[in-house]
Formats: sequence, structure tokens, C-alpha cells
Amino acid sequence: MKPKFYVTTPIYYINAEPHIGSAYTTIIADIIARYKRFRGYDVFFLTGTDEHGQKVLNAAQEAGKSPQEFCDELAEKFKKLWEDLEITNDYFIRTTDELHMKVVQRFVEKIKENGDIYKGKYEGWYCVPCESFWNEDELGENKTCPSCGRKVRWVSEENYFFRLSKYNQRLLEIFQENPNFVEPDFRRNEMLRILEKGLKDISITRTSFKWGVPMPGDSDHVIYVWVDALINYVSAIGYTWDEEKFNRYWPADLHLIGKEINRFHSLIWPAMLMSVGLPLPKKIYAHGWLTFNGQKISKSLGNAIDPRVLVEKYGLDAIRYYLLREINFGKDGDFSEDNLIGRINADLANDLGNLLHRTTAMIAQNFDSKIPQPSKKESVDNQLILGSLETIQKFFENMDNLRFTQALEQLWQFISLSNKYIDLTEPWKLSKIAVKDRLATVLYNLAESLRIIATLLKPIMPRTSKEIYLRLGIAQEWEETNDKAVEKWGKLKPGMIVKHGKPLFPRIDIKKFEKITATKFKEEVKMVTEELNIITIEDFSKVELRVGEVLEAEKIEKSEKLLKLKVDLGELGERQIVAGIAKHYSPEELIGKLIIVVANLKPAKLMGIESQGMLLAAKDGGKLKILTVDGSLKPGAKVS
Ligand code: MSP
Repeated sequence: MKPKFYVTTPIYYINAEPHIGSAYTTIIADIIARYKRFRGYDVFFLTGTDEHGQKVLNAAQEAGKSPQEFCDELAEKFKKLWEDLEITNDYFIRTTDELHMKVVQRFVEKIKENGDIYKGKYEGWYCVPCESFWNEDELGENKTCPSCGRKVRWVSEENYFFRLSKYNQRLLEIFQENPNFVEPDFRRNEMLRILEKGLKDISITRTSFKWGVPMPGDSDHVIYVWVDALINYVSAIGYTWDEEKFNRYWPADLHLIGKEINRFHSLIWPAMLMSVGLPLPKKIYAHGWLTFNGQKISKSLGNAIDPRVLVEKYGLDAIRYYLLREINFGKDGDFSEDNLIGRINADLANDLGNLLHRTTAMIAQNFDSKIPQPSKKESVDNQLILGSLETIQKFFENMDNLRFTQALEQLWQFISLSNKYIDLTEPWKLSKIAVKDRLATVLYNLAESLRIIATLLKPIMPRTSKEIYLRLGIAQEWEETNDKAVEKWGKLKPGMIVKHGKPLFPRIDIKKFEKITATKFKEEVKMVTEELNIITIEDFSKVELRVGEVLEAEKIEKSEKLLKLKVDLGELGERQIVAGIAKHYSPEELIGKLIIVVANLKPAKLMGIESQGMLLAAKDGGKLKILTVDGSLKPGAKVS
């Protein structure tokens, strides 16, 4: 049986639309989930929405909707966003799901049965945006929230309390026994300081509003939104309703969270679990916060950007790459479009794109597009192979320890090594018969390096990984490919047909581009696919191809390249077409030929002469042949 891996994101407050900051946690979780699947784990990847509490209620009221109606609409937007971002979550939980609400009640009853809940009076400070209670001595100047800096409000209510203080000592021991329980270590130390100062019991119900899970046995109270929310991690996988599933996946292997909600996950949640007798999650990782083009991201600042706008502009894989490579995981970082473009041009277009482009072009040119059979290895080949083995091992080691930047640095070192291998072996000098064997070995090694690179990129840049497989002629292997594909050098089979296509990542001209400014959250943003060589059938059907008969052809004065043709397109009438084929065809030999014409191309002027369409021709080095039909057809016949 496969080992399991259970990874979670926080569940997102549904009061506002997600932005690149909130998408960060989900994208990282997706990369981890895909990576673990790739390494042979049975993964359960959970995300969802946090729908109760004062903050969501206020947002619904502002929108003039009932809270349920408001949440139903927003939850769909979140789901759609994750779908558009190709997030591979196994489940999406909503805290308004009836099943979840029952589990919350059951969980709280168990805490109560264990004697950890008592009634008392809560008087203190509350921050609605953070849904957090604070002690007086924790507040900032002018009574502001220490987490978000906004004004807190005074709350005085009869509440139920959870005996958090009872677990103080046990938590300290856990932090000491397992130094990796909370990461990074500076976040762990912050939690340790709180534990050393001593935990106070916390209020876990509210009476001032009704939008929440009713407290069992006292429906005047609703359960505190954080208690409700944290329980999602067990309710989603069957706690109290599917024992087998729950025992399979719990405890979570990784709770991935942002730094500001560490206290809830590293102190309160473990105490709640101890109270009901459940094992604790294996790791809580609190990452840093992103700014966008140097600015704090927030709706009120008006710079919250729909992540799809970024994807539309730069491509999904470029964004995934950038987030991992440029933001040192765990630390705060800036999502800067300038840096992103720098990375796209240097790392993706130049390093990776050129390696692929040069390799497939040379295989196409010298081996009829077939991956050649390698022969005797030389020492420069062995260095490349050793480089690949070292990369695979270090890449895995870094990924296993969530050191994403370092994992990618290692992989890009190998890409550089492969590019250097081209410079050292100078394949363009090896095309003579006598050294063709050597050329075959060099090009095989390059294609094999690319296969390894694409395989390791599968969890991080799935579209690019798939595209490289396609270019290497092994597209059918991609879906199933996993870490076994890089167990040893030489798994690429000679004879596969490579496809030499347009650049993987077009370079972006930094002078011409405009920075993204705040955008409204888009319901339907057209996603970019150009970065790949794939079009849909709808895209293809936009091009109207017709059979045309050449009626007349003549040279154009002062042009060596151009011929002017009159072509009969049947029902579409006669067209004048200017084509750059004068060096390959004489006017006479064209007359009467049935050629293929793009009939709906916008007319253009060439040397001042209008061309009302374009004929199709194929080029192979210096040779050019026009496309004709195999037999006779009426002019105007449709090509599809
Ligand atoms: N609902 C709670 C979580 C409950 S989990 C049991 C919550 N929701 S949230 O929508 O406010 O935040 C969700 C996640 O988005 C958090 O991990 C938070 O750190 C992350 N981010 C929100 N803005 C962010 C940035 N600007 N940068 C990086 N992550 C940020 O808290």
C-alpha cells in the first residue's frame, strides 16, 4: 500500500475575493501535493472556505444579501479560481456544509465531556477582520490589533471558555521533543515565547450574532469562528462519519499556513486535539507574506489583483516558477513584475527554452527528427550524466524539506550545465559522416537531459513539463510519469520523433510592457495557452482554408522573392495573392496548380501590391514547396 500524505491550506475567509497573496498558499500546497503524488504517495489535498463569523456576516449585509446566499456565490468563485489555476485539491470544504457543522458540534461536545469547557464572562478586545481576541497588553498604540493594525472593539459577553491553559505544559514539551513541529524555526520560537509567558483560557462562543454553528445544548451561543474553522481539517476526512478514511489520513502531514495565523494552528489547534484525544499534525509550516510591486496587498488599498490576470499576462507556469524561485519560502517577499519578467527572459526563455530549441532543431536537421542512437561515451558526456544524478538527488532532498528556491536553483544549474555541454561539444561541427556517431551521442544526451529536466518539473510547471515531453515525442508517457522515470540515465528511447516548435517562453520586452494595476475580480478570465504549442479545435476552425486554382502568375518588378498570382477560390471569387516563392517557382509552372489558401486573412500590402490571402508552403532548410491537393477538386473546396 502506498504511504499517505495529507496536506491542507487554511480555509479562506469568504468575505472578499482571493488575490495573489491568498493564491500563494494554495499554489504552494498544490506543488507539494503534486510532488508527493509524483513520489508515490497517496495524497489528500484539502482546501476550502471559512464562512461563519462576524466578518462574513458584515460583508453579506453590506452586499445586501443573506449570509448563506452571499457565501454560496463566493464559494463558487473560489472553486472556479482554483479550477482555473489548475489546483489539484482532492476536496473543497465549506464550513456551512451540514456535515461539517455536525462534526464541529460533536467535537465541542467531546471537549466538554473531557471537562475542558466552562461558562464565564468575557470582557476584552476583539478584532473583527482577524476574528481574534487580544489581551490589553498585546494591543498596539491607540487600541489597535497587533496582527492587522486596525482598531479593536470592546466586547463584554457571557461566554463558554476552553481550558487552553491546561495544555500549556504539554505543548511546551511537544515543542521541545519535536523541534520540527512548527517551521520555520523563527516562527517556532515566536510560539515558544508565547508558551513560556503562559497561555490563558480562550472564549469559544459568541452571543452577539447568530451566523455560526450553534453551541450544543445552548443555542443562544454560536461557536467561535476559529474553533469551527480549525475543525475543518478533521471533518473533511471523515472524523466521526468515516472511520476508515479518517484513520487513513489523520494526522495531517502538513498544515500550510501564513505567518499571522500561526498561534491558532500551533497552539490552540493542538490543544483542542489533545482535549479530544486525537494525534497532532506532524508539521505546521507558517510562510511569509507577499507584497505586490512593493505594496501591501489589500482590497482597501485597491491593489488586490485577481491571480488570473497575472496568469493571462505571463502564463501559469511562469507564475508558479516565479513564486517558488524568487520568494524564499518562509520569508516575506515581493511579487515584482520587473523581477518576474527578468526571470521569464533569463531562466525560462533563455536557459530552458534555448536548450530545448537548439536540441530539437539539431535532431530535426541531422536525424530526420528521430532521437538518435547514442554510442561510446566521452568524459564530457560522463560529466553531464554525473551532473544529472547529483541534481536529481539534491532536487529531491530540497523538495522534501520544502526548500523550493534551492531545489530550482539546483535544477537550473543542470540546465546551465546542459547548455555548456553544447558549447563544449560543438555539435554543429559534427555533422560530417565521419563524426555523425559522435553527433548522435551528443544529441541523445541533450534530449535525455531535457527528459530529466521535464520530469522533475512535472509538479512545479506541469504545462511546461508536458510540452517538453511532447516535443521529445513521448507525450503519451507524461500523465503516468513519476520519480521512477529518473531512476537512471538513458530511459529515453532512440527513434522517438521530436517536434521542433515555437519557443517555449517568448521573451518579454521590458520597455514595451505595462504593469498590472488593480483589477476587478474577474468571473471569466480567458486563460493563456499560447505559452504552449497547443490550440483548441475552435482556434483551428477560425482559419478558413480553401483550395484555389492558380489562373495567372507573374513576377513583381524589383522583387527577387515575390510573385503575384490570380487565384480562383470558387464560390469566394477570384483573389490576388502575393507570395514569396519567386526563388523556388517560375510563374509558368504554377498555372493550373491547385493550392491551399488562407481565405480569411486580413489583406496586406507587399511592395505596394495588395495580397488578399496567403498560400501555404512548407520549408526545409533552403527548400520550399507549396501545398497542393492530392488529386483534382473544385476550386473553393474547404480544407479542414
Ligand atoms: N479563515 C482563516 C483561516 C482559517 S484556517 C482553519 C484565514 N483566512 S484568510 O483568507 O484571511 O487567509 C488565508 C491565507 O491567505 C492565510 O494563510 C494567509 O496568510 C494567506 N494570505 C493572505 N494574504 C496574503 C499575502 N499578501 N501574502 C501571503 N499570504 C497571504 O486567515
